[in-house]
Amino acid sequence: QDPRVHAIKTKIRVVPNFPKPGIMFQDITTLLLDPKAFKDTIDMFVERYKGKNISVVAGIEARGFIFGPPIALAIGAKFVPLRKPRKLPGDVIFEEYTLEYGRDRLEMHVGAVEQGDRALVVDDLIATGGTLCAAMSLLERVGAEVVECACLIELPDLQGRERLNGKPLYVLVESH
Ligand code: PRP
Ligand code: MG
Repeated sequence: QDPRVHAIKTKIRVVPNFPKPGIMFQDITTLLLDPKAFKDTIDMFVERYKGKNISVVAGIEARGFIFGPPIALAIGAKFVPLRKPRKLPGDVIFEEYTLEYGRDRLEMHVGAVEQGDRALVVDDLIATGGTLCAAMSLLERVGAEVVECACLIELPDLQGRERLNGKPLYVLVESH
């Protein structure tokens, strides 16, 4: 395994019982405080995706906005934010997804992604996989090809990977 992965993992703070009892919150803000570990994180994604003809990086609000843009700049792709409801000013398409309590939705500007775009979806973490599924649906509805989803952290116990319909998922760190 790449020696950078261990250093990245140690910089992710695990906060028990946040935001509610029983949740082990994976806090990436501590990783961002370490410029070397943050850079290593971005570099590992860039090394994987540069030269792969990816034309769009789609980042998921909010924490996908931290990691998506530096990857997009480094591989020469456009960046498209997938946002929570009522944040984007233009015409949007949206996908709803289920959370532990209730529903949420992601929105994308019409015209930001086009038929034939090759997309990388970026977020900090996959738990149940619902968020990534909604993101992929938005991209596929407008004719883009989702090449891969990329996250820093996977919670494998929640089996989110099973929900991705065989789409490739790349993660740096597993957390139990
Ligand atoms: C968290 C996390 C992922 C999502 C993963 O975001 O950043 O986006 O949950 O969960 P899932 O795989 O079960 O769908 P959250 O919606 O809590 O908000 P934030 O990124 O805006 O902080
Ligand atoms: Mg999120």
